[in-house]
Amino acid sequence: MSKKGVRDYRPKLHFTTEKGWINDPNGLVYENGNYHLFYQYYPYDTKWGPMHWGHAISKDLIRWEHLPVALAPDDLGFIFSGSAVYDSENTSGFASFGKPPIVAMFTHSGETQQQSIAYSTDGVNFIKYEGNPVIKNPGIKDFRDPKVFYNPIRDSWSCVVVAGDRAHFYASQDLIHWEKTGEFGPEGNRCPGIWECPDIFPLKAPNGEEVWVLVVSMTIKREEGGPKTQYFLGTFDGDTFICDKPFDGIEWIDPGFDNYAAMSYYGEDLKDRIIIGWGANWVYAADTPTNEYCGTMTLARKLSLVDTPAGLRLSSIPYKTLGNIAGAPTIIESQKELDEEVFGLRIKANGEFSIVLSNENQEKLVFGVNSKNEIFMDRSQAGDNSFNEHYASNLFSNVVKQRFFSGPITMEAVFDVSILEVFADKGTFASAQLVYPTKPYNKITVIGDAQVYYYNFEF
Ligand code: FRU
Repeated sequence: MSKKGVRDYRPKLHFTTEKGWINDPNGLVYENGNYHLFYQYYPYDTKWGPMHWGHAISKDLIRWEHLPVALAPDDLGFIFSGSAVYDSENTSGFASFGKPPIVAMFTHSGETQQQSIAYSTDGVNFIKYEGNPVIKNPGIKDFRDPKVFYNPIRDSWSCVVVAGDRAHFYASQDLIHWEKTGEFGPEGNRCPGIWECPDIFPLKAPNGEEVWVLVVSMTIKREEGGPKTQYFLGTFDGDTFICDKPFDGIEWIDPGFDNYAAMSYYGEDLKDRIIIGWGANWVYAADTPTNEYCGTMTLARKLSLVDTPAGLRLSSIPYKTLGNIAGAPTIIESQKELDEEVFGLRIKANGEFSIVLSNENQEKLVFGVNSKNEIFMDRSQAGDNSFNEHYASNLFSNVVKQRFFSGPITMEAVFDVSILEVFADKGTFASAQLVYPTKPYNKITVIGDAQVYYYNFEF
């Protein structure tokens, strides 16, 4: 079951499972101070197999406690992606001894794909509802990944489910009986492919306006750059999403390659919108050289809306709990010997610069801003590239994105053993990159006019 990695690549700040394969984050729900993270899980091998929901909880989105498998495959099929809510008013009637349930909604993927529910009043053990499925397949092959949310217009629950090349919306008073209320797409979408893992939530724009964000993971072909997660901005009228703030191009949650199926936390007392993605890519994930486990989640990121010269856009920054464990910054004068595999960099620059992380095996991971005012990340020579022919190919090793802003830039970079995340340009650039240096990077070099501060994490 183990693959052959030359060394231990397990990140320390990013979630990984103890063993086995993971993909999409599922059921992100916050209840009574606990962040639950469920995830697509195959415990018996480091590649995709009959899907379970693995489960972990955290108080800070950094230190996780592993819990038993929440949902395992059954006669109706594998347990595909979905979401969860804390049903504090017991609309579902699943409460027990006065304890409100967490209700999970997921896809049963068997002969067809249908939506089912399960509930738990102890936050650990889940009981599948005996009347499953609660939304039957309407004759569509790809019909999955329900995301439940509170619908403020109907004062009900709603859920968004992807159905081929579009999203379907449903509403319910009790999380059990669902009626279809509307559809969004394919009009308004500029990116062909089957839709996966939708999410929808409101955010406040800087001018105070409430704007709804629809997030959809796109199964883009490998030759065209591989899967990526896009977002739309608009309104939700209680029945469906309306894209009334279209972009000229396509906007991604992360313009890189290692952030897919991103989903945000549901929680009625949660003030911040926090999103986590699967930090990997279907094109090469199963081949990554990580021994007994395969797959990591991205850092938890806080989402907000910012005004840019091109209009309103999403901004992602690392969630503040990461700042709570960051040590005091020290300035790097052009070069620094590295003796840690987990650290952060805070960068202020004006114009072109690059940061190079390198090791004794001539491997280097480079990122910065180029002469065209583009933010770039280049992992083409960052380490072991041999495990998959596409991973370090041109299409999958260089992230390049034109900045929205001109002038000075601030950038935050978090490096964690085998994953780099970079946040810049007021959060409009946020990208994760997997790298497998055959020896730990032992040097940071700063090229260009940039002030770079180094800090480590205390955890
Ligand atoms: C997205 C996805 C989902 C599906 C799950 C299966 O990565 O394909 O659409 O529910 O993975 O593991």
